[in-house]
Amino acid sequence: MDGKALAAEIKSSVKKDVDKLRAEGVNVGLAIMLVGDNPASRSYYSAILKAGEKVGIRTYEHVFSEDASVNEVLNAVNAINNDERVSGLLVLFPLPSKINSRRVVNKISPDKDIDGLGAMSVGRLAAEESLYQIFSKQPGVDECGLLATGSFIPCTPFGVIRLLEHHNIDIEGKHAVVIGKSLAVGKPLSMMLLAKEATVTVCHKATSDLAFHTKQADIICTATGVKGLIKGDMIKEGSVIVDIGINVGKDGSISGDVDHDSVAEKAGFITPVPGGVGPVTIAMLLENTVRSAYSSTILSSPYQIE
Ligand SMILES: NC(=O)c1ccc[n+]([C@@H]2O[C@H](COP(=O)([O-])OP(=O)(O)OC[C@H]3O[C@@H](n4cnc5c(N)ncnc54)[C@H](OP(=O)(O)O)[C@@H]3O)[C@@H](O)[C@H]2O)c1
Repeated sequence: MDGKALAAEIKSSVKKDVDKLRAEGVNVGLAIMLVGDNPASRSYYSAILKAGEKVGIRTYEHVFSEDASVNEVLNAVNAINNDERVSGLLVLFPLPSKINSRRVVNKISPDKDIDGLGAMSVGRLAAEESLYQIFSKQPGVDECGLLATGSFIPCTPFGVIRLLEHHNIDIEGKHAVVIGKSLAVGKPLSMMLLAKEATVTVCHKATSDLAFHTKQADIICTATGVKGLIKGDMIKEGSVIVDIGINVGKDGSISGDVDHDSVAEKAGFITPVPGGVGPVTIAMLLENTVRSAYSSTILSSPYQIE
């Protein structure tokens, strides 16, 4: 399952939306906050800046050194919340250990929380108030064509759902095994798969026999950061494998959680790493930024979506 082609398609549609909003006098802006010098965050940061520029989204950079205080970071989030040029704010994780990341994401205004990590966004996802986004292709409106209020779902699991649907993979009635239960990936993904009527099993570090579960799965989504965790003898013939993990080797090479060669022999579908979920995550981040711009535009004026 090639993520690059889908990402290009999403970005092209985002560009059209950005141009349409600009013609109406609305510039779409994305703020990105980087604290410290984590190499993975730095590379994600540059990739987002580049992608934003290509689709006409203006980016606002907020970079802090490793020793920034929590007050400085929270003040910056407050300023971004009040910055009318900015539709969405992405804070890159991990933050330095002395900064409580929950305090930071909870300070982001829910209508700018485009990666859906604040308590309000998480709650609205769990309460199925923002899930219309995995059923509607049009940013800003729900599946009935009704106005959608600003609340966003996390970009990586959102991208996984898009990737599966793009490849016409049925989710309804299938047994999906999600490995990893983080707030950014595993947990929201399991909720989205449930909403799409899959039967979902969530595995984690304390799962005693991972292979017992993966062998029964029609769809496996793994997000652990453990290189080679899933091997060919752990999967069912013809199953769908979504590898979300990113592991950077000493030589700079990137691999996922899946032992690609042995798994690809048996899998029906498999995502590559790199070039699978990663590019779609960035595309979804841009799409959520436009979704936010649409929502705030609609809420603050009689702007109509065709
Ligand atoms: N492709 C993308 O766009 C994208 C986006 C985000 C993240 N990622 C990658 O996805 C991976 C996970 O990210 P994250 O933010 O979710 O990480 P995280 O917060 O560290 O969570 C990792 C999860 O994996 C589970 N886990 C760890 N080792 C395991 C094992 N041996 N067996 C079963 N479960 C295990 C952990 O279980 P416990 O909860 O029990 O500790 C935890 O729930 C990382 O490699 C990250 O770089 C990729």
